[in-house]
This record gives sequence, structure tokens and C-alpha cells, in this order.
Amino acid sequence: MAELEWGRRYLMCPPEHFGVLYEINPWMHEEVAVDPDRALAQWEGLRDTLVAAGATVELVHQTAEVPDMVFSANAGIVNASAVGGPQFVPSHFRHAERQGETEQFATWFDDAGWTVDRLPTELDHEGAGDALPFGGVLVSGYRFRSDQQAATHLSRLTGAPVRSVELVDERLYHVDITFCPLSDRHAMGAPMAWDRYGRQVMEALVPEPLWLTDDEALSFCANSVVVGTTVVMPVTPVRVGRQLEAWGFDVVTCDVSEFLKAGGGCRCLTLALDTPLGPGPAGTTGPG
Ligand code: ARG
Repeated sequence: MAELEWGRRYLMCPPEHFGVLYEINPWMHEEVAVDPDRALAQWEGLRDTLVAAGATVELVHQTAEVPDMVFSANAGIVNASAVGGPQFVPSHFRHAERQGETEQFATWFDDAGWTVDRLPTELDHEGAGDALPFGGVLVSGYRFRSDQQAATHLSRLTGAPVRSVELVDERLYHVDITFCPLSDRHAMGAPMAWDRYGRQVMEALVPEPLWLTDDEALSFCANSVVVGTTVVMPVTPVRVGRQLEAWGFDVVTCDVSEFLKAGGGCRCLTLALDTPLGPGPAGTTGPG
């Protein structure tokens, strides 16, 4: 196997105004308090773990109106290998509670010199939370947060072939809670989260899969960050940890329990800034 060619550079947002202040997924309960000091310590623990594994981390800051902005995976789609220089496509959030994040993230990328390209305003898409590259295609989840038609536009804007997968369980509402690329051949996936056709797409796409049981999937273990051969997981079910180690990965469990209260884990708290999409040296000759 070869390591993923991305996952060494991340954008993260420190939890300066994080909290569960509304309910837009089944894990969020307004009456459950977040401990801000604990949240910050856990976030710093995740950042330090990623850095120790060989990644670099850049920062964007949130304002009090957007407590979920800590989940930078949802900022948008990153195409680090775009022909005209690095490209960013900002998300269109489904829920009003998060829509204020779009321009804040877009401004960060604009200031950093990226080309910012936009989706049609009427279509929702929640960025890397609902789209991950694997096998030369962009696996794009839709239904709870993203519109299926947005994938066509992402493909047009980035040049990446897209495989759309319908999500069917509202507890697993973003594709990055259901799917985790591990290497050029390996990935974790949660079949319970996909419709019949989506399962077929994923079975055809992943040469060496670790299919999660329902309990494993609901633990959020697929919401992991991969840096080279290190897998940073919010929770590590025993069977999953053993299989990853048998494949040669180093598994690190990073407690992000304060963020799980908002329905987000390690992957949600990061946005990879080095994902190459589209035709290019990365070789995007995926199936069909
Ligand atoms: N509370 C956030 C929301 O419901 C959590 C986002 C999780 N992000 C992710 N990439 N899965 O939008």
C-alpha cells in the first residue's frame, strides 16, 4: 500500500466560542453543557497529536455567532492541485445556524491567496464533511446536509470525477462520519449509513475495506484523521484498532468528547488543505 498523498496540512478553528446552542443533528441537546476549558484542552490535544504525527496546522478564528465553526471540515472543498493555483469552494450550509460561517471561511482563503469559486446559491453542500477524495474520485454524500446536484457543480469546478452516495441514517449525517480513506487501497466505511446503490459504489471503489458494524459506526470511529500511517481516532473499537494495526497503521485515540456532544469528532475538527482533486499527476483515472 501507499500512503495517502494528502493529510499533512490542516486548517483548524480553536473553540473560542464553541457550545451546543441549538440542535441540528440528533446528537445535539441544548440542555447538555459544554465545558469550555475541557473543550479547549481536547482541541489542543488533537492539534498536538496531528503535529506530532507530522502534520502542520493553520488557524482560522470563530466569532460568537457561529459556535459550530470549530468543525472546519465543513468550510468547503479544497483543491490543492488546481491548474491555476490552489482552489477553494465555500460551503452552503443547510441550516441558518451555520450559514454565517461561509463568508468567514471564504475570507480566510481569499486572504491566503487561494482562488475562491462558488456553488450556485440555491444548492447546499457542506464541504469536506460531505466529500472526501479516494481512488481518483470525490466521494460526495448527500441528503441530510448536501444536495445531490451540488456534486455535479463540484465536479465542474474542480475537474474531479464525483461519486454520489446517499446517506440514509440521520445519526450519520455527513459522509465523513461514514467513510475514512486510510491509504491508496484501504478505507473504513459504514455500510449502514448508505443506501443500496451507495453500498455498491463503495464496494467497487475500495480495494481493501474495513466495513464497520453498526455499533462501531455509531461510535464515530470513521471520523478519524489520517497523517501518513497514523490514524487519529475519536474512539477506537477493539476490532477496528486491531485491524488497523495489522495493516501497519499507528492508532492514536484522541478524546474529543466535548465535541461529540455537538455530533462532531476528530475529522470534523480539521480541514485538509492539501487534497489534490481533478485530473493531474495524482492520477484521477478512477472507475467509470
Ligand atoms: N454540530 C455540527 C453540525 O451539526 C457538527 C458538524 C460535524 N462536522 C462534520 N464534518 N461531520 O453541523
